[in-house]
Amino acid sequence: MTTLGVNLDHIATIREARKTNEPDPVLGAYIIELAGAHGVTIHLREDRRHIQDRDLHLFRKVVTKLKLNLEMATTDEMLAMATDIMPDQVTLVPEKRAEITTEGGLDIINHGQTVQNAVNTLKKVGIETSLFIDPYPEIIRQAKKLGADAIELHTGEYAAAKDFVSQKQELRKLQENATLGAELGLIVLAGHGLTYQNVTPVSVIIEVQELNIGHSIISRAVYVGLERAIREMLALLKG
Ligand code: PXP
Repeated sequence: MTTLGVNLDHIATIREARKTNEPDPVLGAYIIELAGAHGVTIHLREDRRHIQDRDLHLFRKVVTKLKLNLEMATTDEMLAMATDIMPDQVTLVPEKRAEITTEGGLDIINHGQTVQNAVNTLKKVGIETSLFIDPYPEIIRQAKKLGADAIELHTGEYAAAKDFVSQKQELRKLQENATLGAELGLIVLAGHGLTYQNVTPVSVIIEVQELNIGHSIISRAVYVGLERAIREMLALLKG
């Protein structure tokens, strides 16, 4: 079965809308465990628009049974933070201040050296390192060359496809590049823009071991509660 990492950034987004102390995203970690999901994902952004440093420290203290996956940019500040906090996994992502959410995968072709340095720094201290990348063969091969343990295939184009034909094309790209990644010995994950409506075709790609899903789960949680929202997503992943 494909495992599920739940991205809790959007709980922090609600808190930061008022710069208050509720809702606390850290409490979400307990619900994720209770609901039977497999990981907690958070993105500490340079501008601290949602997750704060305090959250990261607390998450590390409370997430002991599940995987704590920290999404971050390849900056010195973030690398220092990661090697101090020691999440179970770091996912390196591109980051632009003006973007609403992560746009596109990390450019590991043109910024190979920066990514390589970050991967080396993280691996030296024993943090599993994943690269959030677009599903193209040359990018997958480059991820392998740079020494990543895992790749997270960006499903944004699939999720944004306007019609059935382009959705099918995007799905095929995901399938083929998941196969390539697995053949190269990389752990293959996927995520971004996945919803209750579009997740199934991605979840049945055999090489994809884990999905990271945030916005759709938290949106549903507003009405049905976080535990039920996660359980409903898990039920889809079980098929
Ligand atoms: N994976 C990565 C690398 C991301 O940056 C995000 C968004 O923070 C997600 C997965 C989750 O995307 P969504 O919130 O659209 O489910």
